[in-house]
Parts: sequence; C-alpha cells; structure tokens
Amino acid sequence: MPPLGEVPARMHASVIRPERYGPPSQGFAMEVVDVPAVGRGQVLVYVMAAGINYNNVWASLGYPYDVVAGRRKKGEPEDFHIGGSEGSGIVWAVGDGVTSVRVGDEVTLSGCTWDETAEDIRLGADPMTSVTQKAWGYETNYGTFAQYALVKDFQCHPKPKNLSWEEAACFLLTGATAYRQLCGWPPHTVEPGDPVLIWGGAGGLGSMAIQITRIRGGIPVAVVSDDERGKHCLELGAEGFINRNDFDHWGRLPDTSDGAAMAKWMKGARAFGNRFWEILGERRAPRIVLEHSGQNTIPTSMYLCDTAGMVVICGGTSGYNGDLDLRFLWMRQKRLQGSHFANIRQCRQVIELAASGKLDPCLSWTGDFADTGRAHQLMYENRHPSGNMAVRVNAAAA
Ligand SMILES: NC(=O)c1ccc[n+]([C@@H]2O[C@H](COP(=O)([O-])OP(=O)(O)OC[C@H]3O[C@@H](n4cnc5c(N)ncnc54)[C@H](OP(=O)(O)O)[C@@H]3O)[C@@H](O)[C@H]2O)c1
Repeated sequence: MPPLGEVPARMHASVIRPERYGPPSQGFAMEVVDVPAVGRGQVLVYVMAAGINYNNVWASLGYPYDVVAGRRKKGEPEDFHIGGSEGSGIVWAVGDGVTSVRVGDEVTLSGCTWDETAEDIRLGADPMTSVTQKAWGYETNYGTFAQYALVKDFQCHPKPKNLSWEEAACFLLTGATAYRQLCGWPPHTVEPGDPVLIWGGAGGLGSMAIQITRIRGGIPVAVVSDDERGKHCLELGAEGFINRNDFDHWGRLPDTSDGAAMAKWMKGARAFGNRFWEILGERRAPRIVLEHSGQNTIPTSMYLCDTAGMVVICGGTSGYNGDLDLRFLWMRQKRLQGSHFANIRQCRQVIELAASGKLDPCLSWTGDFADTGRAHQLMYENRHPSGNMAVRVNAAAA
C-alpha cells in the first residue's frame, strides 16, 4: 500500500482483451497497466474489494456488445477492458472541481455514469434516462477489477461502517437495480400485501429483491432451480419458492395460431400459476413480476402478472426475444416496463438500508483478486453460490 494519496505509475488489473473474448476463464487475465490520469470531476479510488456481476460475463464473451470496439469507435485509445461496476475503497486522488469527497474517505462505488451538464439532465430528466448514461465498468473502462478505479465524484458514497470491505463492495449493483424495479415505477411500487414474483430468487438481484419486497410489506415468492437455493430464499423472507425444473413450458411462445401448441403451453403456465396460488394461500396473481431471465420466462411473466399489474425487466439472461401474447397485455391492461440500474437517490436509499442493518448484502463468496475470472465463470455456468460475490483487490484476507 503506497502512502495515502501517492499515486503509482502502474497497477495490477484483471483485464479482458478482444483477442481473448470467450468464457470468463479465458477472457480475464492478470496484467500490469498504467494508472489512469484523473480528470476534472473525477476521483481515483484505491480499490479494497470489487463486486462480481453478470455484465462482465457479457464483456468477457464480447457479446451482445463488444465493449472495447464500442469505446474505440468513440475515440478512446485503450485496446483492453477493465470491468467491475461496483466496489469499495479509499479516495486516493481527486480531480479539479471535486468537493464532495476528500483523499482518505472510505467509499462504496455505484455503477452508472452520465454527463451532469447534458441538456436532458438540465431539463430535469432522471440521469438514468439521459442519452449520456453509461454502465460504468462495462461501457466504460477503469472499473474495480484493478488496484485503482476511476469514477465521477457522484459515484462515491459513504461506505456503511457496519460492513466489511467485501460486503460493502458486493450489494449495490444488484440492490439498487432491484430497488428501482420494485420502487421506481409508480403507481407500481410494492405496497403492503402486494404479491411479487421474483425470478432467480437466490441470485444477486433476487436476494436483494426478496428482502426489499419484505421491507415494504409485500409478499415475495421466489423462483429457483433447486431446493437448496429455495432454502436460501426462505431464509431471506420469501413466502415460498417454485422450483422451475418442475415445469417444462420454458422457451419462446408457440405461434398463437397453433392451437395444440398453445394449449400445451397454457397448461404449463397455468400449473405454474397454481403453484403460485398454493404458496400465497389464495388465488391472487403477482402485482409485480421482477424479470431478468428474459426469453425463457417472459411469456409466463406476462401471462401470470395480475390485471393492471407490471412486469419490470432489467436483463435477458436466457435470450433477448421477448414473446408475449398481446391479448394478455391489452385485455388485462398490464404494463411491461424496462428498468436499468438506479439513480443516485435510489442508490443512497439502498445503502441506507444496508447501513441500518435492514438489508443483508448476502455476501456468499469471497475470492482473491486473481479469482476474478473464476468468479465470473461460476456465474456464467450458473454454479455460483446464492447471493452476491466479491473479490479482495487490495484488501487483505481476514
Ligand atoms: N440492467 C441492469 O441494471 C442490471 C443489473 C443487474 C443485473 N442485470 C442482469 O440481470 C441478470 C441477473 O443478474 P444477477 O446478478 O441476479 O445474476 P445471478 O446472481 O446469476 O442470478 C440470476 C439467477 O437467474 C436464474 N436463471 C438463470 N437462467 C435462468 C433461466 N433460463 N430461467 C429462469 N431463471 C434463470 C438463476 O437462478 P435459478 O437457476 O436458481 O433459477 C440465477 O441464480 C443478468 O442478465 C444481468 O446482466 C441487469
């Protein structure tokens, strides 16, 4: 550890390069690179721990978006990608104009960036909807998978004192994304007594969504692929869980003119719905469905969602073709809402929940810095433990 505020010329980083694009075990490699210069409004953070998220599985695959080519097209010179969209650390240097943090502050970092002078933001837009908004550590370089990360000042939040470096690094991306999905789209915010269906309940988003739903008085019902994961969901407050392997109507919706195929699909979807009712103990549909699994599950989500309810989606792990039978959409006046990470206010609300001990960051796995690729490989293969994962970057093992 160099003396506080002394910035070295070079740093270790877990780097993705286009020539290695592929599964994370191949895509990530440890390298030594230059420490980036700190510009106006920017902060250089000495990274203690970094959270692991699905976006850098996509970065490693080079699919559906080639992050390095995308940036080079916009004039950025680097031919490599340092990902990592959340983390914890110590402010090491600040650029001109930064007044919100000082060298030595302990911070938790949030994962989106934008141009605060953009016209849409000046006209009052939520910065998450600005044309300048980018997923930091995915669409931008110099994320937390390096000894130093480069952020804008508004990405720095006070680190909750009750959390370790690893805990403080692992929950904000999934927590704030789930929070915006569940609380950011009025009038479809979770209210007391609202049933909520949560796909991937034991995953990063799911673990946060179950807890947030309970905190708001809603009734979370989780979907998982094995009973061990179901147990994790119950421990977090789920009313019950559905094992998706008990059903087989997944994948794209059949052509609606194919009566036999549609009847078979409806049978599967209805059986899934019956299981949901069984768990609730009454015949009520979910007012909100938290989606991210995408192609394989969205037809069921749209079918099961309550009349005038909302399916809110932030990802497409199983594919991007979102089939829906439009009759369910208009006759039942349902809402299909896209949602992406969270604005600063929503981030702070989630940090406050963790700082007050109401939200468990659900750190389930901690690795060394050199394990960054391995952690993403586990996630890619859906073999990772329930909850959120982190790697120690500069932090020492306890
Ligand atoms: N837009 C945003 O801001 C944002 C933010 C965070 C995450 N995301 C996206 O959301 C997705 C999930 O992220 P995460 O951090 O929660 O990942 P995660 O920890 O891997 O959890 C995802 C869960 O989804 C379930 N799943 C996987 N394949 C499935 C399928 N075919 N059908 C149903 N469920 C399936 C798995 O649970 P079971 O196998 O137990 O069912 C897994 O635990 C990723 O695609 C990620 O890129 C987007």
